[in-house]
Amino acid sequence: HFEQPYVLMSVFHYQLLNRDRRTSARRGFFSTPHGPVQTPGFMPVGTQGTVKGLTIDQVAATGAEMILGNTYHLALRPGHETVRRLGGLHGMTLWDGPILTDSGGFQVFSLEAIREINEEAATFRSHIDGAIIKLTPEHSIEIQESLGSDVAMVLDHVVALPAERSKVVEAMERSIRWAQRCLNAASRDDQARFAIVQGGLDVELRQQCATELSAMEFEGFAIGGLSVGEPPPEMYRITEATCPYLPEEKPRYLMGVGTPVDLLESVARGVDLFDCVMPTRNGRNAMAFTDQGKIKIRNAVHREDTEPLEKGCPCLACRHSRGYLRHLFVAGEMLGPILLSIHNLTYYQRVMAGARTAIENGTFAEYMEMKKAGWGVS
Ligand code: GUN
Ligand code: ZN
Repeated sequence: HFEQPYVLMSVFHYQLLNRDRRTSARRGFFSTPHGPVQTPGFMPVGTQGTVKGLTIDQVAATGAEMILGNTYHLALRPGHETVRRLGGLHGMTLWDGPILTDSGGFQVFSLEAIREINEEAATFRSHIDGAIIKLTPEHSIEIQESLGSDVAMVLDHVVALPAERSKVVEAMERSIRWAQRCLNAASRDDQARFAIVQGGLDVELRQQCATELSAMEFEGFAIGGLSVGEPPPEMYRITEATCPYLPEEKPRYLMGVGTPVDLLESVARGVDLFDCVMPTRNGRNAMAFTDQGKIKIRNAVHREDTEPLEKGCPCLACRHSRGYLRHLFVAGEMLGPILLSIHNLTYYQRVMAGARTAIENGTFAEYMEMKKAGWGVS
Protein backbone atom coordinates (compact mmCIF):
# COMPACT_ATOMS: atom_id res chain seq x y z
CA HIS A 1 0.00 0.00 0.00
CA PHE A 2 2.98 2.32 0.15
CA GLU A 3 5.75 2.33 -2.38
CA GLN A 4 9.06 1.79 -0.64
CA PRO A 5 11.25 2.25 -3.77
CA TYR A 6 9.94 5.79 -4.23
CA VAL A 7 12.65 7.45 -2.12
CA LEU A 8 15.44 5.50 -3.77
CA MET A 9 14.20 6.17 -7.28
CA SER A 10 13.75 9.86 -6.73
CA VAL A 11 17.29 10.26 -5.38
CA PHE A 12 19.04 8.16 -8.03
CA HIS A 13 17.04 9.01 -11.08
CA TYR A 14 18.42 8.74 -14.59
CA GLN A 15 16.65 11.12 -16.93
CA LEU A 16 17.06 10.44 -20.64
CA LEU A 17 16.88 13.83 -22.41
CA ASN A 18 17.80 13.12 -26.05
CA ARG A 19 18.62 10.19 -28.21
CA ASP A 20 20.74 10.48 -31.36
CA ARG A 21 18.99 9.28 -34.53
CA ARG A 22 21.95 7.84 -36.41
CA THR A 23 23.95 6.36 -33.50
CA SER A 24 23.01 4.91 -30.10
CA ALA A 25 24.32 8.03 -28.30
CA ARG A 26 22.20 9.24 -25.38
CA ARG A 27 22.04 12.60 -23.62
CA GLY A 28 20.80 12.57 -20.03
CA PHE A 29 21.57 13.22 -16.40
CA PHE A 30 21.88 11.06 -13.34
CA SER A 31 20.74 12.45 -9.98
CA THR A 32 22.62 11.66 -6.77
CA PRO A 33 22.41 12.98 -3.17
CA HIS A 34 25.35 15.27 -4.06
CA GLY A 35 23.77 16.63 -7.23
CA PRO A 36 23.30 15.62 -10.84
CA VAL A 37 25.83 14.37 -13.37
CA GLN A 38 25.31 15.31 -17.01
CA THR A 39 25.78 12.39 -19.39
CA PRO A 40 27.69 11.42 -21.44
CA GLY A 41 30.20 12.30 -18.72
CA PHE A 42 33.77 11.63 -17.68
CA MET A 43 34.90 10.99 -14.07
CA PRO A 44 38.49 11.88 -13.10
CA VAL A 45 40.18 9.20 -11.02
CA GLY A 46 40.99 9.97 -7.39
CA THR A 47 42.24 6.56 -6.31
CA GLN A 48 43.57 7.53 -2.89
CA GLY A 49 41.03 10.26 -2.10
CA THR A 50 42.78 12.81 -4.31
CA VAL A 51 42.92 13.46 -8.03
CA LYS A 52 46.71 13.37 -8.06
CA GLY A 53 48.30 16.78 -7.69
CA LEU A 54 45.12 18.84 -7.88
CA THR A 55 43.04 20.68 -5.30
CA ILE A 56 39.28 20.05 -5.42
CA ASP A 57 38.79 23.60 -6.73
CA GLN A 58 41.12 22.83 -9.62
CA VAL A 59 39.26 19.57 -10.32
CA ALA A 60 35.91 21.38 -10.29
CA ALA A 61 37.27 24.09 -12.61
CA THR A 62 38.00 21.44 -15.27
CA GLY A 63 34.23 20.90 -15.51
CA ALA A 64 34.23 17.52 -13.75
CA GLU A 65 31.00 16.78 -11.89
CA MET A 66 31.67 13.32 -10.43
CA ILE A 67 34.92 11.73 -9.31
CA LEU A 68 36.02 8.18 -8.55
CA GLY A 69 37.68 6.66 -5.50
CA ASN A 70 38.99 3.15 -4.84
CA THR A 71 37.83 0.76 -2.14
CA TYR A 72 41.01 -1.28 -2.34
CA HIS A 73 43.44 1.57 -1.75
CA LEU A 74 41.37 3.44 0.83
CA ALA A 75 40.58 0.29 2.84
CA LEU A 76 44.29 -0.48 3.11
CA ARG A 77 45.29 3.12 3.80
CA PRO A 78 44.14 5.02 5.79
CA GLY A 79 41.45 2.37 6.41
CA HIS A 80 37.72 2.78 5.83
CA GLU A 81 36.97 3.28 9.55
CA THR A 82 39.45 6.14 9.60
CA VAL A 83 37.88 7.64 6.48
CA ARG A 84 34.46 7.37 8.13
CA ARG A 85 35.71 9.11 11.29
CA LEU A 86 37.25 11.86 9.15
CA GLY A 87 33.82 12.56 7.66
CA GLY A 88 33.69 10.02 4.85
CA LEU A 89 35.16 10.68 1.42
CA HIS A 90 33.14 13.88 1.07
CA GLY A 91 34.07 15.26 4.49
CA MET A 92 37.69 14.26 4.17
CA THR A 93 38.31 15.53 0.64
CA LEU A 94 35.83 18.46 0.74
CA TRP A 95 34.60 17.37 -2.72
CA ASP A 96 30.88 18.06 -2.40
CA GLY A 97 29.82 16.62 -5.75
CA PRO A 98 28.96 13.00 -6.54
CA ILE A 99 31.57 10.31 -5.86
CA LEU A 100 31.65 6.75 -7.22
CA THR A 101 33.80 4.10 -5.60
CA ASP A 102 35.13 1.03 -7.36
CA SER A 103 34.71 -2.20 -5.43
CA GLY A 104 38.29 -3.42 -5.26
CA GLY A 105 37.64 -6.31 -7.64
CA PHE A 106 39.67 -4.95 -10.50
CA GLN A 107 42.49 -3.51 -8.38
CA VAL A 108 43.34 -6.78 -6.65
CA PHE A 109 43.66 -8.37 -10.11
CA SER A 110 45.43 -5.57 -11.91
CA LEU A 111 47.93 -5.04 -9.09
CA GLU A 112 48.63 -8.79 -9.12
CA ALA A 113 48.01 -8.79 -5.41
CA ILE A 114 45.60 -11.70 -5.73
CA ARG A 115 46.48 -14.87 -3.85
CA GLU A 116 43.35 -16.93 -4.19
CA ILE A 117 39.81 -16.51 -5.36
CA ASN A 118 36.95 -18.80 -4.42
CA GLU A 119 33.20 -18.50 -4.04
CA GLU A 120 33.51 -16.79 -0.66
CA ALA A 121 36.14 -14.14 -1.28
CA ALA A 122 39.12 -12.75 -3.14
CA THR A 123 42.16 -13.16 -0.91
CA PHE A 124 45.11 -10.93 -1.56
CA ARG A 125 48.33 -9.59 -0.12
CA SER A 126 48.42 -5.90 0.74
CA HIS A 127 50.89 -3.97 -1.42
CA ILE A 128 51.56 -1.77 1.59
CA ASP A 129 52.47 -4.10 4.44
CA GLY A 130 52.11 -7.59 2.96
CA ALA A 131 49.16 -8.50 5.21
CA ILE A 132 46.79 -11.20 3.92
CA ILE A 133 43.32 -9.73 3.41
CA LYS A 134 40.03 -11.35 2.44
CA LEU A 135 37.62 -9.24 0.41
CA THR A 136 34.06 -10.58 0.21
CA PRO A 137 31.17 -8.89 -1.62
CA GLU A 138 29.65 -8.04 1.78
CA HIS A 139 32.91 -6.52 3.01
CA SER A 140 33.30 -4.46 -0.16
CA ILE A 141 29.83 -2.97 0.38
CA GLU A 142 30.52 -2.37 4.08
CA ILE A 143 33.72 -0.50 3.15
CA GLN A 144 31.99 1.56 0.47
CA GLU A 145 29.20 2.44 2.91
CA SER A 146 31.84 3.69 5.37
CA LEU A 147 33.47 5.71 2.59
CA GLY A 148 30.05 7.26 1.93
CA SER A 149 30.26 7.37 -1.85
CA ASP A 150 27.11 8.12 -3.85
CA VAL A 151 27.59 5.05 -6.03
CA ALA A 152 29.08 1.74 -4.90
CA MET A 153 30.28 -0.79 -7.46
CA VAL A 154 29.69 -4.50 -6.89
CA LEU A 155 32.65 -6.76 -6.21
CA ASP A 156 33.34 -8.63 -9.43
CA HIS A 157 35.66 -11.35 -10.65
CA VAL A 158 37.87 -10.06 -13.47
CA VAL A 159 39.99 -12.42 -15.57
CA ALA A 160 43.05 -11.39 -17.54
CA LEU A 161 42.56 -11.82 -21.29
CA PRO A 162 43.07 -13.96 -23.26
CA ALA A 163 41.60 -16.69 -21.05
CA GLU A 164 40.06 -20.11 -21.58
CA ARG A 165 36.32 -19.94 -22.13
CA SER A 166 35.65 -22.02 -19.01
CA LYS A 167 37.54 -19.46 -16.88
CA VAL A 168 35.59 -16.59 -18.43
CA VAL A 169 32.28 -18.39 -17.79
CA GLU A 170 33.23 -19.16 -14.18
CA ALA A 171 34.22 -15.54 -13.47
CA MET A 172 31.09 -14.21 -15.18
CA GLU A 173 28.75 -16.50 -13.24
CA ARG A 174 30.53 -15.73 -9.98
CA SER A 175 30.27 -12.00 -10.71
CA ILE A 176 26.49 -12.38 -11.01
CA ARG A 177 26.24 -14.24 -7.68
CA TRP A 178 28.50 -11.67 -6.03
CA ALA A 179 26.37 -8.85 -7.45
CA GLN A 180 23.33 -10.35 -5.71
CA ARG A 181 25.31 -10.71 -2.47
CA CYS A 182 26.26 -7.03 -2.71
CA LEU A 183 22.60 -6.05 -3.08
CA ASN A 184 21.64 -8.23 -0.10
CA ALA A 185 24.38 -6.69 2.05
CA ALA A 186 23.53 -3.06 1.26
CA SER A 187 22.00 -0.97 4.04
CA ARG A 188 22.22 2.66 2.88
CA ASP A 189 19.43 4.20 0.83
CA ASP A 190 21.59 7.26 0.08
CA GLN A 191 24.01 5.09 -1.89
CA ALA A 192 23.28 3.58 -5.31
CA ARG A 193 24.64 0.20 -6.42
CA PHE A 194 25.91 -0.39 -9.95
CA ALA A 195 26.32 -3.93 -11.31
CA ILE A 196 29.26 -4.88 -13.57
CA VAL A 197 28.86 -6.94 -16.74
CA GLN A 198 31.70 -9.42 -17.35
CA GLY A 199 32.11 -12.13 -19.98
CA GLY A 200 35.40 -11.43 -21.73
CA LEU A 201 35.27 -10.97 -25.50
CA ASP A 202 32.37 -13.40 -25.92
CA VAL A 203 29.20 -11.62 -27.08
CA GLU A 204 26.91 -14.43 -25.98
CA LEU A 205 28.33 -14.42 -22.44
CA ARG A 206 28.16 -10.63 -22.26
CA GLN A 207 24.50 -10.63 -23.30
CA GLN A 208 23.65 -13.40 -20.84
CA CYS A 209 25.41 -11.51 -18.04
CA ALA A 210 23.72 -8.21 -18.95
CA THR A 211 20.30 -9.88 -19.06
CA GLU A 212 20.70 -11.53 -15.66
CA LEU A 213 22.02 -8.39 -13.96
CA SER A 214 19.29 -6.25 -15.56
CA ALA A 215 16.68 -8.31 -13.70
CA MET A 216 18.18 -7.21 -10.36
CA GLU A 217 17.54 -3.95 -8.52
CA PHE A 218 20.53 -1.90 -9.54
CA GLU A 219 20.48 1.84 -10.17
CA GLY A 220 23.05 1.56 -12.95
CA PHE A 221 25.13 -0.89 -14.96
CA ALA A 222 28.79 -0.98 -15.82
CA ILE A 223 30.69 -2.84 -18.51
CA GLY A 224 33.91 -4.20 -16.99
CA GLY A 225 36.80 -6.36 -18.08
CA LEU A 226 37.60 -4.19 -21.10
CA SER A 227 40.52 -1.92 -21.98
CA VAL A 228 42.80 -4.64 -20.64
CA GLY A 229 45.00 -4.86 -23.73
CA GLU A 230 42.50 -6.00 -26.38
CA PRO A 231 42.45 -4.05 -29.68
CA PRO A 232 39.98 -1.10 -29.58
CA PRO A 233 37.68 -2.64 -32.27
CA GLU A 234 37.18 -5.64 -29.94
CA MET A 235 36.20 -3.32 -27.11
CA TYR A 236 33.77 -1.46 -29.40
CA ARG A 237 32.28 -4.77 -30.62
CA ILE A 238 31.60 -5.93 -27.03
CA THR A 239 30.21 -2.56 -25.96
CA GLU A 240 27.93 -2.42 -29.01
CA ALA A 241 26.63 -5.94 -28.34
CA THR A 242 26.11 -5.37 -24.60
CA CYS A 243 24.35 -1.98 -24.37
CA PRO A 244 21.07 -3.16 -26.00
CA TYR A 245 20.77 -5.78 -23.23
CA LEU A 246 20.90 -3.15 -20.47
CA PRO A 247 17.85 -1.19 -19.26
CA GLU A 248 17.18 1.96 -21.30
CA GLU A 249 16.20 3.97 -18.23
CA LYS A 250 19.40 3.36 -16.23
CA PRO A 251 22.90 4.82 -16.69
CA ARG A 252 25.64 2.76 -18.37
CA TYR A 253 29.26 3.09 -17.33
CA LEU A 254 32.26 1.77 -19.26
CA MET A 255 34.96 1.18 -16.65
CA GLY A 256 38.56 2.30 -17.13
CA VAL A 257 38.09 3.76 -20.64
CA GLY A 258 39.90 5.36 -22.33
CA THR A 259 41.43 7.58 -25.06
CA PRO A 260 39.34 10.49 -26.41
CA VAL A 261 38.40 8.41 -29.49
CA ASP A 262 37.43 5.45 -27.26
CA LEU A 263 35.06 7.76 -25.39
CA LEU A 264 33.29 9.00 -28.51
CA GLU A 265 33.14 5.55 -30.15
CA SER A 266 31.59 4.19 -26.94
CA VAL A 267 29.13 7.09 -26.59
CA ALA A 268 28.03 6.24 -30.14
CA ARG A 269 27.27 2.72 -28.87
CA GLY A 270 25.18 3.87 -25.90
CA VAL A 271 27.58 4.47 -23.00
CA ASP A 272 26.85 7.32 -20.54
CA LEU A 273 29.76 7.38 -18.08
CA PHE A 274 33.52 6.82 -18.14
CA ASP A 275 36.55 6.96 -15.87
CA CYS A 276 40.21 6.66 -16.77
CA VAL A 277 43.62 7.55 -15.35
CA MET A 278 44.83 8.52 -18.82
CA PRO A 279 44.36 12.33 -18.68
CA THR A 280 46.07 12.64 -15.29
CA ARG A 281 48.71 9.90 -15.69
CA ASN A 282 49.72 11.05 -19.17
CA GLY A 283 49.67 14.65 -17.97
CA ARG A 284 52.14 13.80 -15.22
CA ASN A 285 54.29 12.19 -17.93
CA ALA A 286 54.40 15.40 -20.01
CA MET A 287 51.83 14.34 -22.61
CA ALA A 288 48.98 16.68 -23.51
CA PHE A 289 45.76 15.88 -25.41
CA THR A 290 44.59 18.43 -27.98
CA ASP A 291 42.26 18.66 -30.98
CA GLN A 292 45.35 18.08 -33.16
CA GLY A 293 46.36 14.93 -31.27
CA LYS A 294 48.95 14.34 -28.57
CA ILE A 295 51.77 16.72 -27.72
CA LYS A 296 54.98 15.66 -25.95
CA ILE A 297 55.78 18.87 -24.18
CA ARG A 298 59.37 17.82 -23.31
CA ASN A 299 60.17 17.78 -27.02
CA ALA A 300 62.88 20.32 -27.96
CA VAL A 301 60.68 21.88 -30.67
CA HIS A 302 58.74 23.52 -27.82
CA ARG A 303 61.80 25.20 -26.25
CA GLU A 304 60.79 28.70 -27.37
CA ASP A 305 57.26 27.89 -28.46
CA THR A 306 55.08 30.84 -27.46
CA GLU A 307 51.80 29.14 -28.36
CA PRO A 308 49.50 27.62 -25.73
CA LEU A 309 48.87 23.85 -25.73
CA GLU A 310 45.47 24.52 -27.28
CA LYS A 311 44.11 27.80 -28.61
CA GLY A 312 40.75 28.57 -27.03
CA CYS A 313 41.23 26.22 -24.08
CA PRO A 314 40.07 28.04 -20.92
CA CYS A 315 42.37 26.13 -18.56
CA LEU A 316 45.18 27.64 -16.47
CA ALA A 317 47.88 25.70 -18.37
CA CYS A 318 46.77 27.33 -21.62
CA ARG A 319 47.41 30.82 -20.25
CA HIS A 320 51.10 29.82 -20.34
CA SER A 321 53.31 29.14 -23.36
CA ARG A 322 54.37 25.66 -24.40
CA GLY A 323 57.93 26.85 -23.86
CA TYR A 324 57.26 27.58 -20.19
CA LEU A 325 55.45 24.25 -19.71
CA ARG A 326 58.41 22.43 -21.30
CA HIS A 327 60.80 24.27 -18.99
CA LEU A 328 58.82 23.16 -15.92
CA PHE A 329 59.15 19.49 -16.93
CA VAL A 330 62.81 19.74 -17.90
CA ALA A 331 63.57 21.44 -14.58
CA GLY A 332 61.61 18.80 -12.67
CA GLU A 333 59.22 21.36 -11.20
CA MET A 334 55.98 19.96 -9.71
CA LEU A 335 53.89 22.64 -11.42
CA GLY A 336 54.48 20.92 -14.78
CA PRO A 337 52.54 17.72 -13.93
CA ILE A 338 49.88 19.82 -12.19
CA LEU A 339 49.29 22.08 -15.19
CA LEU A 340 49.21 19.23 -17.72
CA SER A 341 46.79 17.27 -15.51
CA ILE A 342 44.56 20.34 -15.41
CA HIS A 343 44.76 20.76 -19.18
CA ASN A 344 44.07 17.09 -19.96
CA LEU A 345 41.11 16.87 -17.60
CA THR A 346 39.74 20.11 -19.06
CA TYR A 347 40.25 18.66 -22.54
CA TYR A 348 38.35 15.46 -21.68
CA GLN A 349 35.50 17.50 -20.16
CA ARG A 350 35.35 19.69 -23.26
CA VAL A 351 35.21 16.65 -25.55
CA MET A 352 32.29 15.30 -23.48
CA ALA A 353 30.51 18.67 -23.29
CA GLY A 354 30.83 18.89 -27.08
CA ALA A 355 29.35 15.40 -27.37
CA ARG A 356 26.38 16.38 -25.18
CA THR A 357 25.67 19.48 -27.25
CA ALA A 358 26.04 17.51 -30.50
CA ILE A 359 23.56 14.86 -29.31
CA GLU A 360 21.10 17.62 -28.41
CA ASN A 361 21.53 19.14 -31.89
CA GLY A 362 21.35 15.83 -33.73
CA THR A 363 24.91 16.22 -35.01
CA PHE A 364 26.82 13.65 -32.94
CA ALA A 365 28.05 11.63 -35.95
CA GLU A 366 29.50 14.79 -37.55
CA TYR A 367 31.03 15.83 -34.23
CA MET A 368 32.78 12.49 -33.85
CA GLU A 369 34.08 12.57 -37.44
CA MET A 370 35.39 16.10 -36.98
CA LYS A 371 37.19 15.17 -33.74
CA LYS A 372 38.67 12.00 -35.25
CA ALA A 373 39.93 13.96 -38.27
CA GLY A 374 41.78 16.33 -35.93
CA TRP A 375 43.26 13.46 -33.93
CA GLY A 376 44.34 11.75 -37.14
CA VAL A 377 42.36 8.55 -36.56
CA SER A 378 40.02 6.94 -39.05
N1 GUN B 1 37.92 -0.90 -13.67
C1 GUN B 1 38.22 -1.16 -14.96
N2 GUN B 1 37.69 -2.36 -15.33
C2 GUN B 1 37.07 -2.87 -14.23
C3 GUN B 1 36.34 -4.08 -13.98
O1 GUN B 1 36.17 -4.95 -14.83
N3 GUN B 1 35.84 -4.25 -12.70
C4 GUN B 1 36.04 -3.32 -11.72
N4 GUN B 1 35.53 -3.55 -10.50
N5 GUN B 1 36.71 -2.17 -11.93
C5 GUN B 1 37.22 -1.95 -13.18
ZN1 ZN C 1 44.29 23.88 -21.63
